[in-house]
Formats: sequence, structure tokens, C-alpha cells
Amino acid sequence: MMVSFCTCERLAFREILAWANEHGATSFEEVQEGIKVGKRCGMCCCYIEYALATGETEVPYPCPPLPPVKAVPCAGCN
Ligand code: FES
Repeated sequence: MMVSFCTCERLAFREILAWANEHGATSFEEVQEGIKVGKRCGMCCCYIEYALATGETEVPYPCPPLPPVKAVPCAGCN
């Protein structure tokens, strides 16, 4: 089974990611406050975090762990 939207707000992850891109939001907290999603039952929160981290608009159930953050080489250290 795949999860692709916040049922409480009737917002698809596709719409949430589009909003995040449009507004330059990168963290779940920015998206949660900005578009007011994931603030009712909270069941969608980990799925939205995963969607933000991966760009995927459909997330497997149960929610997989977040992918590791890729290290960005520091230009000043090399
Ligand atoms: S499913 Fe998103 S807040 Fe309930």
C-alpha cells in the first residue's frame, strides 16, 4: 500500500511538494506551518517528511526510515 496524501487536509503529496518548491521550504516544520498540513491527526507527518526528503509523491506503508543525509563537501575544507 502506498500513501500519497494527507487525508485530513485533502492535500496530495504532489501538491505539498509543489508548494514547498514554490516557497523554498525544505523542512517539514516549514511546510507544516506554511501550508497547514499534518496538524490534525498527525498520521501523515512521517510520510510528508519522507516525501520532502526523497521527492517521492507516493510513500510505502508503513513509513520507511528517512534516507541518510548526503554530505556536501565543504569548499573551504578542500
Ligand atoms: S492525515 Fe494529515 S493531519 Fe491527518
